[in-house]
Amino acid sequence: MTQFIWPTTAAQLRCDKKWLETDDTISLQLSSDNNNTFDFKPGQFISVGVELNGKMEYRAYSISSVPQQDFLQLTIKRVEGGKVSNYLIDKFNEGDSLSVLAPTGPFNSVDCSAKPKIALLSAGCGITPVMSMARTWLANKTNVDITFIHMARSPEHTIYFDELQYLNQHHDNFSLQLLLKEPQYTDFPQGRLDQKWLTTLCPDLTERTVFLCGPMNFMQDMKTYVEAIGLDMAHFFQESFTPIEPETNDSADASGVVQFEVPAFGVSKEIDKGATLADVLEDSGVPIIIACRSGICGSCKCKVTKGEVSRTSTETLTEEELAQGYTLACSSQVQSNVEVSLV
Ligand code: FES
Repeated sequence: MTQFIWPTTAAQLRCDKKWLETDDTISLQLSSDNNNTFDFKPGQFISVGVELNGKMEYRAYSISSVPQQDFLQLTIKRVEGGKVSNYLIDKFNEGDSLSVLAPTGPFNSVDCSAKPKIALLSAGCGITPVMSMARTWLANKTNVDITFIHMARSPEHTIYFDELQYLNQHHDNFSLQLLLKEPQYTDFPQGRLDQKWLTTLCPDLTERTVFLCGPMNFMQDMKTYVEAIGLDMAHFFQESFTPIEPETNDSADASGVVQFEVPAFGVSKEIDKGATLADVLEDSGVPIIIACRSGICGSCKCKVTKGEVSRTSTETLTEEELAQGYTLACSSQVQSNVEVSLV
């Protein structure tokens, strides 16, 4: 089987299977027309695009499957008001196709060097990238010792519940610690994951490399706990997959109106100084792909040909690109009259 070659623009992948993981979460199995194998680094994500009301909307989803298989698996949880996630859950069917950008993301088990002992910490849908790491290490019979700590409401709300149990029973080097919030499941420890629970569930945490993914508050708390426990933070990695908050600018001239131009699309208008470039481009109908909104996928790269923006992330840009005026629109706030180009 030949490997899938990612085009520079979006690829079309077909959904071969769709199934329920929990009552609000589905998984999709995506394949190429030629059933190619897919190369990616476990923990990475892809940006998925669907056309909604005549407009392409992109969102980023972690891959949960293992590299070099002839499919990609995504797991998608319903989000209140989430246009793309809810469309994929309610309307997207087996046999349908969608647009996909190449896998990317620095949170992965290849670029983040790991000790032989690993702790995977996740909650809710944050399980997907660390599940890809665990599945890959176990499938490759790698000599790693994995403690997998996951927090969920109940067994029914635990994504991959049966597979986690299976892995726990069949791999000596995989230890599952499932912490459930609802009190009636006496086979599992219950409660919220705090520092005490963390040391109870993983007494040798400081000897491990920690990979963390989950809701933002969960990640903030866990980071505080692992630091307090004494982990060398060079061995701590977390998915930074959260929308960027624009930096507040307290200077006296922070407010005001500036001129915004995208000559190639005939856009010329006044906007608020400090506006996020991605929002202004989208509102102006400029066809830019905004996928992760977190400054890590690179899909929203554009060029500021005149004027100034402030940046909260330059994650995917080279020094040369920065010098040429390239910026990530989701992570750029307009600071003066600007002119922007998409190339
Ligand atoms: S949308 Fe991903 S970097 Fe901007």
